[in-house]
Amino acid sequence: MRDLGVLAEVFPSETPASELAGLRGVIISGGPSSVYDPGSATIDPSLLASGIPVLGICYGQQLMAHLLGGQVQKGDRGEYGLAQLDLAEADDALFRGIAGRQQVWMSHRDLVSAPPAGFGVLAGTVTCPIAAISAPDRRLYAVQFHPEVAHTPSGSQILSNFVFGICGAVRDWNPAGQIAALEAKIRETSDGRSVFFFVSGGVDSTVAYTLCLNSLGPERVHGAYVDTGMMREGETDFVRANFAALGASRFQVEYAEPQFLAALDGAIEPEQKRHIIGEEFVKVQERILETQRFLDGRWILGQGTIYPDTIESGGTAKADLIKTHHNRVAGIQKLIEEGRVIEPLSSFYKDEVRTIGQQLGISRALLDRHPFPGPGLAIRCLCSSASGPPVKTADGWVLPIRSVGVQGDSRTYRAALAIDDFPAEADETAHLVNRNEGVNRVVVMVRACTRIPEMSANPAHLTRERLSRLRRADAIVRRISHESGFDRQIWQFPVILIPFGVADRPDSVVLRPVDSVDGMTANSVRMPAELLDRMARELSEVEGVAGVFYDLTNKPPATIEWE
Ligand code: XMP
Repeated sequence: MRDLGVLAEVFPSETPASELAGLRGVIISGGPSSVYDPGSATIDPSLLASGIPVLGICYGQQLMAHLLGGQVQKGDRGEYGLAQLDLAEADDALFRGIAGRQQVWMSHRDLVSAPPAGFGVLAGTVTCPIAAISAPDRRLYAVQFHPEVAHTPSGSQILSNFVFGICGAVRDWNPAGQIAALEAKIRETSDGRSVFFFVSGGVDSTVAYTLCLNSLGPERVHGAYVDTGMMREGETDFVRANFAALGASRFQVEYAEPQFLAALDGAIEPEQKRHIIGEEFVKVQERILETQRFLDGRWILGQGTIYPDTIESGGTAKADLIKTHHNRVAGIQKLIEEGRVIEPLSSFYKDEVRTIGQQLGISRALLDRHPFPGPGLAIRCLCSSASGPPVKTADGWVLPIRSVGVQGDSRTYRAALAIDDFPAEADETAHLVNRNEGVNRVVVMVRACTRIPEMSANPAHLTRERLSRLRRADAIVRRISHESGFDRQIWQFPVILIPFGVADRPDSVVLRPVDSVDGMTANSVRMPAELLDRMARELSEVEGVAGVFYDLTNKPPATIEWE
């Protein structure tokens, strides 16, 4: 809705209809459950009789049908992916301007098998004959498919029809136009006090910081950045230079590499590594808060929280460990309880934050950065206690190094299968994972100093040497993918170091370029052969690197990061 220029907010599904009175329209979203599941989300049924236009999407259609006396059939296999939608002849306001067969995206198990009395069927697919329904006299509309995703090309027309045609909304939303109001709000909330931030160098905290800086002036805004030693090459200098360019004069870098490396000494398990990093982060924050007296009454805490973080049932992909730990710092907890917190971006989505950042003059180099996990290179530098050669199977070799994956909604920690050549069919990877027990990923060897069976796994921890090896490899990949423009075609490009190699070259590098919309699912992306060749050649010259592998696995069954 906001992309269409219309202010829209997210409410919990059970919000009483009385609190929704006066709205131009309501959309009931999709969701993972069945209307027959105990405790599944529902709405106040009187909303459907209020005269406010309502559009149900996916689960929203099933819920509307269920509450109004239609039939919802429990599906056992479901329908996931592209489908062809055939529109009925009816001239319905929801499909105005759209005709004939349409490609749509379906993702559902249950479906509506009979519409409620008084509803017409507007469209169907072969497997889902009731894929859109309406009762225009009651201003109720619903679709089984997802108009909000890019795989439904006419989706934004359908949403525009609902928002402008049916609800009569006007374009009233432009995030960059909110800046003056945001700055005024910051002055009001700060009430003469100064603001301090823990900044990460990411988009959200930088934009929030800049708003405060512009609103209160550089003397009243303090930023602390923690260099854990797990940063990418040049990261700390990049962040420092960006803050200097924004006019931040009270910006402090806390250098804590020795503390983090000492605490991580000997850790192998990814969750253990994450836990240690979180704990050390808390200690550094507490030290900064206490020694610099940010807890006294003259200071309040600034945070880069954005809208999805504040939506009640947010269910975001991944609990950001460093963030959760931030919130556990006793001092910060106290500030939150006292209401001494300022979160200027708490009503904006990521894209809107970028728009605001651009308007504020923050460099594109910062705003367009790929997501990067809080714990940094530590999770991409794989540690292992295993040793020995890979195990031959009918398809390739199983590397005795485990990494995190996700299968059937739960976490796995399994080996990777290495093969010699790129498979002809992209979906071959999924078959390989299913055929080879104990495996959650497939990598192809791109270049190496020897054959796969001549290499072996060797016990390895997080050391300064291995981190700097990974940092070098990561910097090469970043430079080449930036120069070639490949980085703009993908969501993220993790580079991983695995303890698999030969005596004087104990590690290998794994390339993991992926495309994704929200990080929840992702596709492995094949890069142009020539570019890959150039990258692999440079990487194989990095000290200590025996081979270069390419991860072909989608998420699921793998995850984006390896850990
Ligand atoms: P996975 O590996 O679970 O990653 O497929 C999904 C997305 O989340 C990012 N990620 C993190 N982001 N703190 C973050 O801010 C973290 O601890 C963290 N761990 C994973 C990952 O980079 C990917 O974009």
